[in-house]
Amino acid sequence: MNATGGRPRLAVLVSGGGTNLQAIMNAVAAGQIPVEIACVISDKPGVFGLERARRAGIATREVPFAEFGTRAEFDNELARVLAAVAPDFIALAGYMRIIDSATVTRYAGQMLNIHPSLLPAYPGLHTYARALAAGEHWHGTTVHFVTPELDAGPGIVQYRVPVTAADTEQTLQEKVQRGEYRIYPRALQWLVTGRVRLVAGQVIKDGSPLQSPVIVEAVT
Ligand code: GRF
Repeated sequence: MNATGGRPRLAVLVSGGGTNLQAIMNAVAAGQIPVEIACVISDKPGVFGLERARRAGIATREVPFAEFGTRAEFDNELARVLAAVAPDFIALAGYMRIIDSATVTRYAGQMLNIHPSLLPAYPGLHTYARALAAGEHWHGTTVHFVTPELDAGPGIVQYRVPVTAADTEQTLQEKVQRGEYRIYPRALQWLVTGRVRLVAGQVIKDGSPLQSPVIVEAVT
C-alpha cells in the first residue's frame, strides 16, 4: 500500500512504440507487479505507446516537447504533470529525453530506466551499431536507477546476449529487446515490493549492497 492506502502508483514515460510498456502492462495484469499504472506520459504526440495504454484503459498525457519554447518550460510542465499524477514510482520505457536534474532529484530512488547496453559501456544512442563496430562479443541491456548523469545511475539487472558474426543491428536489437521484456518487469517488481532500494547512491537488494547488477543471460 502507498501513503494514501491504495496500491502504489506507477507512471510510465514513453516516446515511441511502447513494447517495454506492454511488457510492464502484461506483468501488472498478471499480478506480478503489485502496482497501479496511474498514467502513461509521452513527450511525442500520437505514438503507439499511448495507444497501447488507452486500449488497456490506462490514463494518458501528452507533453509535446515541440510545443514548448524552451527546455525549462517543457521541464516545468513535465514536473507539473508528474506532480498531478502523484506517482510512487516512475519507469522510463523508451523515453528519449533527458529528465532535468530537479525532477530526477525529486524522485530519487523511485525512477528506473532501461538502456540497451551493458552499462557503463555505451551510454547514449546507437548502441547496437557501436557494439558491432567495436567487435564486442557480448551486448545487452541494463535496468538502472535514474541519476542526473545520463545512463550513469547504478545498475540493478542486466541481460546479456552473445554477439555472433551473423548479427546485424536489427538481429542484435531483436535479441536484446526480448531480454528487456524479461528484466524490466522483474526490476520493477523488486522496486515496488521493496526488495531493491537506492540508499546513498548504492543499490541494496534483499538487504545487502549490490556490487554489480544481477546478470541474466540469454537462453540460447
Ligand atoms: C528500448 O529498446 C529501450 O532500451 C530504449 O528504447 C527502446 C524502446 O522501445 N531506451 P519501446 O518503445 O519500449 O518499444
